[in-house]
Amino acid sequence: PKRYRVPHLRASKEAGRPITMLTAYDAVTARIFDAAGVDSLLVGDSIGNNMLGYPSTLPVTVDQMVVATRAVAGAAARALVVADLPFGSYEASAAQAHATAVRLMKEGGAGAVKLEGGQHMVEQVRLLSTTGIPVVGHLGLTPQSENVFGGMKVQGRGEAAAQKLLADALALEAAGAVAIVLEMVPGPLATRVTKELAIPTIGIGAGVECDGQVLVWTDMAGMADWAPKFSRAFGQVGAALSAAAGDYVGAVRERIFPGPEHTFDE
Ligand code: KIV
Ligand code: NA
Repeated sequence: PKRYRVPHLRASKEAGRPITMLTAYDAVTARIFDAAGVDSLLVGDSIGNNMLGYPSTLPVTVDQMVVATRAVAGAAARALVVADLPFGSYEASAAQAHATAVRLMKEGGAGAVKLEGGQHMVEQVRLLSTTGIPVVGHLGLTPQSENVFGGMKVQGRGEAAAQKLLADALALEAAGAVAIVLEMVPGPLATRVTKELAIPTIGIGAGVECDGQVLVWTDMAGMADWAPKFSRAFGQVGAALSAAAGDYVGAVRERIFPGPEHTFDE
């Protein structure tokens, strides 16, 4: 299948074809999602809370992101691989952002990177965009700032906050961003941003009118103990995996597995 690349993002928006994105953190799931036709795989820093058992995304390191990105990029035949710049690896300066992004592309094989923040990130976005590194923005609930927000709350409620978010989105676009993730913002605001921008919006808890949608794969597959209100379980993979593991344990204990057919001759 023909690879989905950065120019296809804008083409999808113009054609009114919703962009599909899922997180992936390893080669096993990346291969499955790629074959299922997902346009873009996001190696999210949500690897921290979803895979590594951390309480948030904050402890995730660039080295960890490089390993996960390499695994996903190696398995994705069609999907555009986007890697998150983790907390503390890009905020201080454009040069810092560039050094991190180069690692994710060179060592990780990412096709684009994503960073959180609006007007205060334009220098980073401009430098990356002009040096061959496509940047996806991320506005609304930006989990790396949860200590500032005081939790995972809807962002952009009220006209002042809405104006600020819209200005952030326009600033990212002007700086060269190729798409913007909108997380947990009121539907009408996401619609407004989507209409004002030439680049696509990719929503998560951002209503029904964004140009694309993204979900954390464990939420999408019914793997998580808890899932946010904006998510939907499209399968019960957690229950299926639990049943498989239970059956294996039972079969070994009862000497039903392995059988003669699994046994090597002399
Ligand atoms: O890390 C992540 O999973 C994300 C998505 C929620 C957009 O940034
Ligand atoms: Na993220």
